[in-house]
Amino acid sequence: MRIAVVGTGYVGLVTGTCFAEVGIDVTCVDIDEKKIENLRKGVLPIYEPGLEEMVERNAQKGRLSFSTDLSEVVRTCGCEAVFIAVGTPPGEDGSADLKYVLAVAREIGRNLEGYTVVVTKSTVPVGTARKVRQAIQEELEARGADIDFDVASNPEFLKEGAAIEDFLKPDRIVVGVASERAEKVMQKLYKPFLMNGHPLIFMDIPSAEMTKYAANAMLATKISFMNDVANLCEIMGADVNMVRRGIGSDARIGNKFIYPGIGYGGSCFPKDVKALIRTASENGYDMQVLRAVESVNERQKSVLFDKIHRHFQGELAGKTFAVWGLSFKPKTDDMREAPSLVIIQRLLEQGAKVKAYDPVAMAEARHTLGESIEYGKDEYEALIDADALLLVTEWPEFRSPNFAVVGKLMKEKTVFDGRNIYDANDMREKGFAYYGIGIAQ
Ligand code: UGA
Repeated sequence: MRIAVVGTGYVGLVTGTCFAEVGIDVTCVDIDEKKIENLRKGVLPIYEPGLEEMVERNAQKGRLSFSTDLSEVVRTCGCEAVFIAVGTPPGEDGSADLKYVLAVAREIGRNLEGYTVVVTKSTVPVGTARKVRQAIQEELEARGADIDFDVASNPEFLKEGAAIEDFLKPDRIVVGVASERAEKVMQKLYKPFLMNGHPLIFMDIPSAEMTKYAANAMLATKISFMNDVANLCEIMGADVNMVRRGIGSDARIGNKFIYPGIGYGGSCFPKDVKALIRTASENGYDMQVLRAVESVNERQKSVLFDKIHRHFQGELAGKTFAVWGLSFKPKTDDMREAPSLVIIQRLLEQGAKVKAYDPVAMAEARHTLGESIEYGKDEYEALIDADALLLVTEWPEFRSPNFAVVGKLMKEKTVFDGRNIYDANDMREKGFAYYGIGIAQ
């Protein structure tokens, strides 16, 4: 089988590489020449565990190739499916901007030579596949070409940092189709990934498009709900870690995605929650729950700062804060919508100094934050003379540091743990002033 994947961002690159891994011939296409040139040399635009080796292996075997010429690929590859995995940046009003998706659809329409399934993989609002179909159809008509094609919607549920595992062993694969022929192509493509018994769920196209948003919105809702509960626990003298365990063992609630923290970030939840609220309101419906989910999340990003402000009685000017973790979550260098940015900005506004360390996001941080903060060579160096340590991203290497060394390096033994990775009693026994999320002082 041959396929093309358009867009070598996070989703496109993982999708293309994992299809190649199971023996499908894949051409990844991107208009960014530098990106393609780098990919041909094995240099990846993103950090994702295991991906670099997988790209290299499949490129060497000749199953994975890269191109900047979409027209040529569509005309000549004889692809059974073309996946559209280009960006859908949020417009100013929060809705997903489809200009890249539709431009790719038009280019496909201008070059299609035989039956192909055109699959939207980017997260796109309900109704997009219809627009993609129309754009392709218009271009075919302009050429006077009578070529059969189908559109399909195949939303992605990958988590950054675990993308390869998620793709190779998915919980489920959701595909929206409108014809049996398209269903057969998609069935054949995904067969190698169904070994672990999880389902390939076929449905109509609008339902598949909605599934993606509903899944992310539900997960974001769980997080905001737990953050709200955590804040109330603090007020009432309860411990949210206990409450989490208490409710998570109920299978109806489940123990995943109920970890309170400093708010969800990244490129997906914030964007998708906003987009769903927007789609609803454009269609005359008010997503009340999601509006609350969003505002709770905004507030949560400041919770750690508020604790710091209270502890130091507002006197932050001239104080030094060590920040452990900058990426929005572990195992990625992605800092989009990262809570670290809000916390750091608020500290800097107060005249405080920040010295940060992240195992992989240092280059990204320099790019985003420049010289406004200092950077530690490692987690211990970032602590020297710090008035407090802020645990912002729960990287595994931060889980059990040598606290005797930590305490010696710092000016004050104070820890603000934004992810509840340390045990409050244990920390207090070690002589630290310890603040968690949802844990009474
Ligand atoms: C999310 C979804 O989990 C994927 O299924 C989906 O495919 C992806 O978005 C997407 O739409 O592309 P991702 O953004 O990579 O994946 O990261 P998550 O692991 O879901 O974490 C999102 C945020 O929630 C992080 O900031 C994390 O710290 C936070 N979080 C997560 C919590 O605060 N508490 C939790 O219990 C879990």
